[in-house]
Amino acid sequence: MSNNQTPNFDPQTYWEKRLKSNTGLTGVGYTLVGEHYNKWAYKIRKHVFNKIVTKNLKNLTNADILDIGSGSGFYIDEWLTYHPNSITGIDITEIAVSRLSEKYTDLKFHKLDISDLTATQQTLKQKFHTISCMDVLFHIVDDEKYKLTFQSVAHLLDNGGYFIFSENFVHDQSTSLSHHKSRSKVEIEQLLAQNNFKIISRQPFMYLMNEPVDSNNFILKWLWKITAIVCAKSALFGYLIGAITFPVEKLLVSLFKESPTSEIVIAVKTK
Ligand SMILES: C[S@@+](CC[C@H](N)C(=O)[O-])C[C@H]1O[C@@H](n2cnc3c(N)ncnc32)[C@H](O)[C@@H]1O
Repeated sequence: MSNNQTPNFDPQTYWEKRLKSNTGLTGVGYTLVGEHYNKWAYKIRKHVFNKIVTKNLKNLTNADILDIGSGSGFYIDEWLTYHPNSITGIDITEIAVSRLSEKYTDLKFHKLDISDLTATQQTLKQKFHTISCMDVLFHIVDDEKYKLTFQSVAHLLDNGGYFIFSENFVHDQSTSLSHHKSRSKVEIEQLLAQNNFKIISRQPFMYLMNEPVDSNNFILKWLWKITAIVCAKSALFGYLIGAITFPVEKLLVSLFKESPTSEIVIAVKTK
């Protein structure tokens, strides 16, 4: 695994600040492109998330579900539609946990760093049937903490339980920014195997509507750059570009097996 670390990055401070100054989907999504574009980008996430969940996860009414990095609660709302036995959410920030606790008074939320194995084990005593971790893993830039995160998830899951998450699965070497690291498919698959996970489904989560971190295609890179610049300049353009791209995106995520950007996975814990 790469030792390429970003020593000055403090995830809690970064996320507290980002979520405080950007409410709703702009804080948890791609901040630069604004609320309107993010709404369309989350609409595709919602579509793909529910498609993979309904196809692979049965009997959720008896399930205890844990959502890691709940942010604004987007996936809490999705899980609620399946009427599971319980939903618990964790987030590294106080701001997210206090907003979520106010919004969903019947659910439990904890301020926890999922890569902190000891704190996680001390706080969450139960095992879960399903754990979701959407658009969080590539923000854990420290390689050791990334590794510990998989151990933590494995510890919290029942045998036969499901881990549903998004990641970039890049085919080349891992690449990193200060708050973001796109790990290679090989690294992620190794970590899953080491923690007794077997992938049962991996498919595109998005295709055009997010940065093409797993592509060298000049046209895709150019398209994303223009989209980001135009959406950042005007909320109306953000809305229009999102609305035009959405139906194309829906088709692309169902047609292709690999994506130039994020993918969604369901892995089962085998023992
Ligand atoms: C990009 S947002 C995604 C939020 C939500 N899952 C979604 O997809 O809308 C990342 C979220 O993960 C949280 N987070 C980042 N690192 C974390 C960690 N190590 N443990 C728990 N939560 C973390 C952040 O505070 C933030 O709310």
